[in-house]
Amino acid sequence: MAILVTGGAGFIGSHTCLELLSGGYDIIVVDNFSNSNPESLKRVTEITGKLIKIYPMDLLDLNSLETVFLDNHIEAVIHFAGLKAVGESVHDSLKYYKNNITATLLICELMQKYKVKKMVFSSSATVYGLPDSVPISEGFPLKALNPYGRTKLMIEEILQDLYVSDNEWSITILRYFNPIGAHESGWIGEDPSGTPNNLMPYITRVAVGQLKELQIFGKDYATVDGTGVRDYIHVVDLAKGHLLALDKTLTSSGVHTYNLGTGRGYSVLEVVEAFELATGVHIPYKMVQPRSGDAAICYADPTKAEKELNWKAAKGIIEMCQDAWRWQSNNPHGYVKKEESVNPRLVQSEDFLLPNN
Ligand code: UFG
Repeated sequence: MAILVTGGAGFIGSHTCLELLSGGYDIIVVDNFSNSNPESLKRVTEITGKLIKIYPMDLLDLNSLETVFLDNHIEAVIHFAGLKAVGESVHDSLKYYKNNITATLLICELMQKYKVKKMVFSSSATVYGLPDSVPISEGFPLKALNPYGRTKLMIEEILQDLYVSDNEWSITILRYFNPIGAHESGWIGEDPSGTPNNLMPYITRVAVGQLKELQIFGKDYATVDGTGVRDYIHVVDLAKGHLLALDKTLTSSGVHTYNLGTGRGYSVLEVVEAFELATGVHIPYKMVQPRSGDAAICYADPTKAEKELNWKAAKGIIEMCQDAWRWQSNNPHGYVKKEESVNPRLVQSEDFLLPNN
């Protein structure tokens, strides 16, 4: 029996694959590498000494996807695959609905058909919109502010309906706050293509000299120093949360939803300060206009995950900064350039160990 991980080559996906392999699971990854690189999985194999069965294919390719279910005994699915750039989702909403919603419907249909009714779904704190208060607990009102957020919210609702229609399903929805950091080896990490949208990869690119200065979006929020406050969580803590969520999913039924955050907020200026302290690298910045749709303060109440999953974030902001910097400074250009075309054939992670592949 194996765990199918969609989008397993991405930032959170690759760290979760590493934890799954270390935890003794067999894993299969389906990924179209549209926003990730197979090199991440090769490196997960190098770190763990364990192979990953990889299907380089698009979830929208139903026939190819069905072969994954026909070829393997799948016990559960961890569904990461999806597009996640808020700005792009506003300008190309259909792309988001097709890639996020349609792909989820297709995989759920196959899971239903092959009686693999266990899923851990990668949701986001974005479903809380602009919260009225903090900390944010799971019962807070939900509201999407852009097409990306709407896809996450719609998928959560689809999964709730799916369980109502068939009580054999067991679904765990994880609402991530702001994942940063990298595996302590510095060998896998966050590798956004183009100019990063998110704070930490922007900071590390400034630190490595590829970007001139950080632009801080807004200085007059009602926060400790006027800059936006977020709940940054180490990606390895987040990945470990997926293993506990998987245990829960495998041993229960119903739909269970958890915040994965630390419960503590840091302002942008506090993150810059922590990064400088952790690394000794100076980060020049300038204040610019607030980004539209940004909340002033957003941090989790993670007590439900602590009580029911026995999960608690262990790593602090200094470790997050040190690990993010170790990854970026060891890999100033991220992963190696990927092949442009992806053949929908089965490969193993060791295939990526071949020279020039
Ligand atoms: N920020 C800057 N400069 C930058 C980037 C970000 O000042 O170059 C600020 C933002 O204004 C915000 C904070 O840093 O105050 C964090 O911004 P991120 O873009 O890193 O993260 P967000 O909280 O905006 O978004 C993240 C995920 C989204 C998800 C959202 C849900 O990236 O996918 O959390 O809470 F929807």
